[in-house]
Amino acid sequence: GATAPLAGLNVLITAGPTQEPLDPIRYLTNHSTGKMGYALAEAARDMGATVTLVSGPVALDAPAGVRIDRVTTAQEMFEAVSSHFPEADLTVMAAAVGDFRPVNAASEKIKKHGRTTLELELTANPDILAWAGSRKRTDGSQVICGFAMETQHLIENAAKKLLEKHCDMLVANNLREPGAGFATDTNVVTILTPTDEQTADIEQLSRMPKRRLAGEILNRLNSLRAQVPQTV
Ligand code: C5P
Repeated sequence: GATAPLAGLNVLITAGPTQEPLDPIRYLTNHSTGKMGYALAEAARDMGATVTLVSGPVALDAPAGVRIDRVTTAQEMFEAVSSHFPEADLTVMAAAVGDFRPVNAASEKIKKHGRTTLELELTANPDILAWAGSRKRTDGSQVICGFAMETQHLIENAAKKLLEKHCDMLVANNLREPGAGFATDTNVVTILTPTDEQTADIEQLSRMPKRRLAGEILNRLNSLRAQVPQTV
């Protein structure tokens, strides 16, 4: 019905940053607060979905009525997503996943030892969104939305990501735009959808609260899902 447009659907959301340990005391991370991902989880719940939220470390309260799976590293997020993804009808990856992690997390605190420089060797983390894009069901019943935050060439980079990671939708965030980005309660985004293998449609949305934007994203994503006949 109109009030429960996602009734009967499983929605999987990723949110927040990841933390990649350097030693028992320190880690590499980013400025993600989890606000957009948590807003998506709450909106999906209110639209009638069964929601699983895979969350990196954030200061937000767990939304009521949502299954939450808390993780720390990108590798743990990948493992959580791979276990929940097969049953997800709609997946939205709003997490800011660390692209790299230290090759070796030191087992003891890294000491200064009078050094003036320190080299860290990093290795690539799995790209969770690309993995999901390559594994989604081929009948169109499973749709995936990614996010892209860029400081330059936003639309070109976002279109490239949409197509390369086989997303059904990509939400592009300009970090430099007032009322957009990490710690704000509003966002200004452009929504990209693929038209064919090479090109994308783009739709610019006005600045709005993250909670309302979440509903807009979920409604659009759901409309891209193929209606597969159910066998009774
Ligand atoms: O390529 P980039 O990191 O900018 O892509 C951002 C999108 O990809 C986001 O939806 C993010 O959640 C997802 N991502 C991911 N795993 C990674 C890196 C990004 O799922 N290792």
